[in-house]
Amino acid sequence: MTVSLSIGRHCVRFPVIQGGMGVRVSGHRLAGHVAKSGGIGLIAAAGLALNSGLYNGKNFYAADREALKIEITKAREIAPDGVIGVNCMVAVSNFNEAILASCEAGAQLIVSGAGLPLNLPGLTVDYPEVALVPIVSSVKAAQLIARKWHKSFDRLPDAVVVEDPETAGGHLGEKPENIGVGKYDQYQTVRDVKKYFKEQWNLDIPVIAAGGIWDRADLQFALAQGADGVQMASRFVCTEECDAEDAFKQAYLQCKQEDIGLVMSPAGLPGRALVGNIDAVRQHDLDMHLRCPLNCLKKCTYKECQERFCIVTALDRAQKGDVQTGLVFCGTNAYKAERIETVSEIFEELFPLAEREAG
Ligand SMILES: Cc1cc2nc3c(=O)[nH]c(=O)nc-3n(C[C@H](O)[C@H](O)[C@H](O)COP(=O)(O)O)c2cc1C
Repeated sequence: MTVSLSIGRHCVRFPVIQGGMGVRVSGHRLAGHVAKSGGIGLIAAAGLALNSGLYNGKNFYAADREALKIEITKAREIAPDGVIGVNCMVAVSNFNEAILASCEAGAQLIVSGAGLPLNLPGLTVDYPEVALVPIVSSVKAAQLIARKWHKSFDRLPDAVVVEDPETAGGHLGEKPENIGVGKYDQYQTVRDVKKYFKEQWNLDIPVIAAGGIWDRADLQFALAQGADGVQMASRFVCTEECDAEDAFKQAYLQCKQEDIGLVMSPAGLPGRALVGNIDAVRQHDLDMHLRCPLNCLKKCTYKECQERFCIVTALDRAQKGDVQTGLVFCGTNAYKAERIETVSEIFEELFPLAEREAG
């Protein structure tokens, strides 16, 4: 199993993308070390202004942009020759600005989901070397994106991430009533997306499986099932390099399988998280008489009618170690975390040295 991964003009030694994790769970340290280990490291753009020291209560968008550029620059210092990208969610209000800032700061890849990134190639037109990678959960979404990109921008994706709503952490691209009912087939979707690009566009682009990939057996299974690589997120949380505070990592180490569930996000999408404290998350905002503080999402039920909770500040609190009133996003495998390890230990487990030497 000595496959590498090429996306657009960028090539890495191992077919692993570290999934973007907001808010600041995958910042420069995690992304930089994954890139240094031979995978693709992604900085999650969402909400970086918070906890950056740049936000003064009034300048969220400017601080967010600046903080993103700083994260990219610092990740590059860790892995000067690695491949570093940005995960940017379509649902955020400052999506266009974040994409531009990413390109300006030297991101080599934009990975984008939580909505369809229909205008993405138009934003990066001056940066043709930046690879564009949409995240989808269905062939239909991949088709919509490909048709729109081709028609409007004469461009097609450089790779596609197929994210499994049954296992992935964070916001999910499927209605809650369709999750957990045995309808979704992750690897059939991977193969169908692959087939679509081959048959419709005569294009052999990498299709990456995301969700539920934890160890070497999962990785080998994903590749055997037709994926060209994997995107892994939850596995990288309990690393020394992960940018979240220790209490966030401890929440993973201590959780049980039954603590992981779905929560309806004010963004209108279900999200997978540790659900034991959801009432406390909501109560925090009620106690603080909080109104939408940042306008960070284009559509948000909290902004519009105070329904549910402010998602970006809830994620930020958890990242900073308040796992009592903060929201801890995680995939279904988070309960498998047993210890704090290093990023390079994970890569050594996924790709044992003996095999690397033989390859
Ligand atoms: C803590 C956490 C935060 C996440 N934040 C984001 C995000 O900001 N943007 C995004 O597109 N996906 C986000 N995700 C999804 C991951 O990038 C990834 O696709 C998914 O979790 C893969 O499944 P796994 O965790 O089982 O490996 C997040 C996942 C976790 C666990």
